[in-house]
This record gives sequence, structure tokens and C-alpha cells, in this order.
Amino acid sequence: MASSVDDLLAAARAARLHAHAPFSGFQVGAALETADGRIITGCNVENVTYGLTICAERVAVFKAISDGFRQFTRIAIVADAETPTPPCGACRQILWEFGGDLEIILGNLQDEIGRYRLRDLLPLPFDQRHLSEPGE
Ligand code: THU
Repeated sequence: MASSVDDLLAAARAARLHAHAPFSGFQVGAALETADGRIITGCNVENVTYGLTICAERVAVFKAISDGFRQFTRIAIVADAETPTPPCGACRQILWEFGGDLEIILGNLQDEIGRYRLRDLLPLPFDQRHLSEPGE
């Protein structure tokens, strides 16, 4: 059964509480909706080397792939901030690769504060189609 935007935002807020963000202090939650209406969540997991940190969005995508899901419709992303927290460049690439033109719903602890299509956030994506072009 399909979930509502409020369900997705609530799931992202709940996932955010599991964030491991001792270095930035910036906790993020994500909730990815599968085509059959399930919600798979993620939170950011930081690392003492900093560079190995993984964002909430990628945790959600990789959890979903690992659980056998391949079709996605939308993702909600939540942080405790007045301005929306959009996915970083690396996450946009991963979201595009596994989700295509997802709807991106941005929120904070109280409200929904933005809605986008991924193609507008990543207008010229590199993807599988480029690999299948014949070379020399
Ligand atoms: N972060 C996310 O998890 N998702 C975003 O969309 C933006 C940034 C995390 C990475 C890092 O743990 C912290 O937020 C500060 O950049």
C-alpha cells in the first residue's frame, strides 16, 4: 500500500534519531519509498576519518538494494534546520542510478519545506546509457 508524504517524513524523522554524527553534530534522516509502498530508512553514519562518512540517503538506498528492492518512487530527507537539506552530489548520483527521476521531499522536524524532481537537481547525469555507446 502506498505511503503518504507525512508517513515518509515521519519515518525520516525517526531514522534521524539513529544518526551517528559526533563530528558534524548534523543529524540527517532519509526515508525511501519502494514502488510497492514500503519505506526503507537511513541515517548519516560518520567516521573518525571524516572521508568514510556516508549520508542518510545512500544508507537508505544501499539498505533497500541489499534487501532486494529495485523500484523506487520518492525519498524524504529531514534535518533539524530551517532551510532544506538537499542531497549532496554523491547522493544525487546514487539516487539517479537506482531510482531515476525520484521525487525528493525535504523537511525539518516540523514541516515539509521543499519538493523537487531529481532530474532538476541532477540535470545532466552520467549513467548506464553512456557505457553502452559504441567506442572505437
Ligand atoms: N548529510 C547527509 O546525511 N545528507 C545530506 O543530504 C547532507 C549531508 C550528512 C553528512 C554528514 O554526516 C553531515 O550531514 C554533515 O555534512
